[in-house]
Amino acid sequence: MRSLITGTGIGVPRHVVTNEALSRLMDTSDEWIRVRSGIQERRYADPGQGSTSLGVIAAGNAIADAGLKPGDIDSVIFATMTPDHVLPGNGPLLQVALGLRDIPTFDIRQQCSGFLYGLELADLFIQSGRYRRVLLVGAEVHTSFMPWHLGWDTLIGQSTREITEAERAENTASRDRTVLFGDGAGAVVIEGRDGVAGLGPIRLHTDGTGAGVLTMLGAGFKRRPFVTHEQIDAGETLPIMSGKEVFKSAVTLMPQAVREVCEVAGVAVESLDLVLVHQANLRIIEGVQKALGLPAGKVPHNIERYGNTTAATLPILFHECRQQGLVKPGMNLMFTALGSGLHWGAALYRT
Ligand SMILES: CC(C)(COP(=O)(O)OP(=O)(O)OC[C@H]1O[C@@H](n2cnc3c(N)ncnc32)[C@H](O)[C@@H]1OP(=O)(O)O)[C@@H](O)C(=O)NCCC(=O)NCCS
Repeated sequence: MRSLITGTGIGVPRHVVTNEALSRLMDTSDEWIRVRSGIQERRYADPGQGSTSLGVIAAGNAIADAGLKPGDIDSVIFATMTPDHVLPGNGPLLQVALGLRDIPTFDIRQQCSGFLYGLELADLFIQSGRYRRVLLVGAEVHTSFMPWHLGWDTLIGQSTREITEAERAENTASRDRTVLFGDGAGAVVIEGRDGVAGLGPIRLHTDGTGAGVLTMLGAGFKRRPFVTHEQIDAGETLPIMSGKEVFKSAVTLMPQAVREVCEVAGVAVESLDLVLVHQANLRIIEGVQKALGLPAGKVPHNIERYGNTTAATLPILFHECRQQGLVKPGMNLMFTALGSGLHWGAALYRT
């Protein structure tokens, strides 16, 4: 029995925000963002549109693509670092919105590796015989991290007011992070099937000594109360990131994980047909591609249109690759990701 992805779907918000638009809010430029990250535009959710609602769209599309009805799903794994609420998680909210049965829903985090960790869980569920049809969703609304009172609402046509010089200066202080992220959701349906196609092997890693390189200090239960005006004013409800450290870890650890999985599977790296890398930065994606010695055509990317959507990048990319006819039967496809934790890993998928 193998865990086969039988359906995929995405849910991306309607507002397209270009680099040029961002440069009206802070000291940045299309050239800087494009050259450093490869990003040209990203999507922003409407106010009130959370990661559950984007996940519901993606999941509905994936279930239909699998030729199933919501009532056929027998467990849900929802990966997000931007849930609608602290509690409950997005799982029960998605269950109601989609009209799923009384089935278990698991909410997981793992940030940019959320989808990969979800694949591992889904595979274990299916291999154990516990569940047969797992819905795995990765969805994020990052725009809520951004200081909307500083003129961001103008980007989605919610306000026409000019931002002040003071607001511009404040926006510029977080420009190394805010320009990189976008909102979106991707989902897959995974079913147990006989045959050679399907998931595995998967190898996951965690190194908590790297927790500080990408973290958010505000709004945490170590503090009493867990969120204050002072934390917000100090910008502590926005993630902090040591960009260079994350970059170095990403271009080293993702190729290592891919090699590790290839070795376990007895598959030569050069015989991989497609490698889907977490979409955080085009230079990282190209770094991974070069470290593996693969031609650029085997490492597709869509970061230019979405930016980093954290748990959603891999299912969105996989869906688009399928749509573009890049995923053909009999391929060796590799998923790999790295993110806050640090969590990283790779998963082989035979199509
Ligand atoms: C964030 C990142 C794009 C920055 O690229 P970099 O080449 O390391 O750039 P630096 O940090 O050296 O910054 C260079 C300069 O650009 C400036 N800068 C930062 N963000 C900017 C922006 N949006 N627009 C214009 N200038 C910017 C910096 O202030 C710095 O200026 P200085 O030299 O005068 O101090 C890059 O480090 C990166 O992508 N890291 C990985 C991030 C990631 O993947 N995060 C998610 C993980 S899942």
